[in-house]
Amino acid sequence: MCGIVGCIGHEKSVAFLLEGLEKLEYRGYDSAGIAVHGGDELKVYKARGKLENLRNLLNGNSSSYSLKAGIGHIRWATHGVPNETNAHPHISSENKVSIVHNGIIENYKELKRELSERGVEFKSQTDTEVIAHLIEDFLNQGHEFCDAIRHALKKLDGAYALGVIFKEDPETLYAARKSAPLIVGVGKNRNFIASDAPAILEHTKRVIYLEDNEIAQIKSSSYKILDLEGNILKKKVETLPWEPVSVSKMGYKHFMLKEIHEQPDVIRQTLFDKLRSTDQPLNLKEVKLTRQQLENLDRIQVIACGTSLHAALVGKYLIEEFTGVPVDVEASSEYIYKRAIVSKNSITIGVSQSGETADTLTAIKQAKAKGSHVLVITNRPDSTMAREADSLLPVNAGFEVSVAATKSYSAQLMAFYLLAIFLAEIKNSLPAERIEEYKKELIQLPQKIEMILSNKEKIHECAIKFHNTRNFIYIARGINFPVALEGALKLKEISYINATGYPAGELKHGPIAMLDETIPVLSVLAPGKVYEKVLSNSEESKARNANMIAVTSEENEHLEQVFDFIINIPYTDEVFSPILTTIPLQLLAYYIAEFLGKDIDQPRNLAKSVTVE
Ligand code: AGP
Repeated sequence: MCGIVGCIGHEKSVAFLLEGLEKLEYRGYDSAGIAVHGGDELKVYKARGKLENLRNLLNGNSSSYSLKAGIGHIRWATHGVPNETNAHPHISSENKVSIVHNGIIENYKELKRELSERGVEFKSQTDTEVIAHLIEDFLNQGHEFCDAIRHALKKLDGAYALGVIFKEDPETLYAARKSAPLIVGVGKNRNFIASDAPAILEHTKRVIYLEDNEIAQIKSSSYKILDLEGNILKKKVETLPWEPVSVSKMGYKHFMLKEIHEQPDVIRQTLFDKLRSTDQPLNLKEVKLTRQQLENLDRIQVIACGTSLHAALVGKYLIEEFTGVPVDVEASSEYIYKRAIVSKNSITIGVSQSGETADTLTAIKQAKAKGSHVLVITNRPDSTMAREADSLLPVNAGFEVSVAATKSYSAQLMAFYLLAIFLAEIKNSLPAERIEEYKKELIQLPQKIEMILSNKEKIHECAIKFHNTRNFIYIARGINFPVALEGALKLKEISYINATGYPAGELKHGPIAMLDETIPVLSVLAPGKVYEKVLSNSEESKARNANMIAVTSEENEHLEQVFDFIINIPYTDEVFSPILTTIPLQLLAYYIAEFLGKDIDQPRNLAKSVTVE
């Protein structure tokens, strides 16, 4: 949510800033801007909308003193509409300081009032602008550059990752962090800052993770990290676990479609890493609990947001079914304002693609502070959450570019399958033969997904028929109920069609009142415990004239009478069905959005990494 980059010592600073911002565009696209030294002033260029608009604005006009400090920003608007004035970088009244910010300054109104009373004129509606004026105010009181930042930071409440440059200190780039991600990239005669690794990976893999309340004073060949009292801190330089990211769509029209098609390989890779044989117990060495602690485990709480929350709901079903251990799943944003209850034999699992989602990060910190062991399932082993974790279970889906999560969700599901089997083996809660069958079936899944991906005609047809509908309903029960939620979320976020997922048995308690011939109802019908029940709930919907769609591995005449569209998938045991039933729902959302001409990889109002509460 907002991305910042900065560099010092780079001979092509503008080009670096633009390339860095391109790699961070998943974090927001309401506006983009850069600030660089040009002649004897700070030059700020900014444009509303996507980075492309900033590129067009610069269009060759990128004259700046190379080698000097520069900062850049990509915005996801929180305070103030997305326009050029509210775009970052912001600049102080006397043009001495320019800043970029990711986060929210909670006491900005109070600070703005104080500064306005002293004659400072504000140009934007943002919370960020106060920081630039505050720093300038301390400069004018006689503080040197870094001290002016330190004093200003002490007045701020809230979250920030900041990049700061000064007109009169062109050889230094400053950065600071509190509750928002920021790394310092250490290069050869040039250094960098960025909200996330992809922005600097082509230039360096050596980084320093800034912690809360730390300030970086960065020159081209040296740096200092200080605390808010000005003490110099010793920091470790770490190596990023990534190769430079390819942002290629590999011939696909959108990243989302490419990432949907990567799912079989993502699952294969996870199984190759973790499930070497089906007749040996799984060894999840990433789980740093003793055998005794695992045997005694009597409760698990899982916290997550959005798609990760849906994966967690499938995980709840699996762990409870395989081990009998009760699992509570809660949206992180709800968890953090409740009394956190942790007990001696419980653990907390945080699930997050990015590992940076502010609500989930706060939630796991709260659970940790209460003494809970925190296991993090994330696609980013270099993230803040990964660094907070007591146990880290990386999901290795590779970089996910599209804002709508697809392959990371499948990878998270795999993490839960492995964890549930691992716990069942330790607790001896399932017969060994059943576990062996489950492991064998897991290995079959990538191939079965490939069958769905090579047979998309029905899904396409369905998208043609329903792309103009305004409301969609998804129903399922049991382990597929979270799939209904996920299918509805995918459709909402990329097509802007109102879609809701319901437990099929709940329809008759209210939602059925909405049904008529204008509303499609999609039923997830996996053979198993609840198959007949979902079918009869589907018949109730059919009787109210709804347009009926089924995702199922069954084929029979009765289904043909109930459903207008049947999307067939290969058979798998009900416990594994979410891995398969999700795929057609991702594709349906994709094709509908494509027919509607939506901006699929960067849907309006969204950002991939939600780093504000
Ligand atoms: C998924 O398609 C969404 N874009 C969103 O709901 C996302 O899953 C959510 O913001 C959580 O992100 P995280 O997994 O990075 O924590």
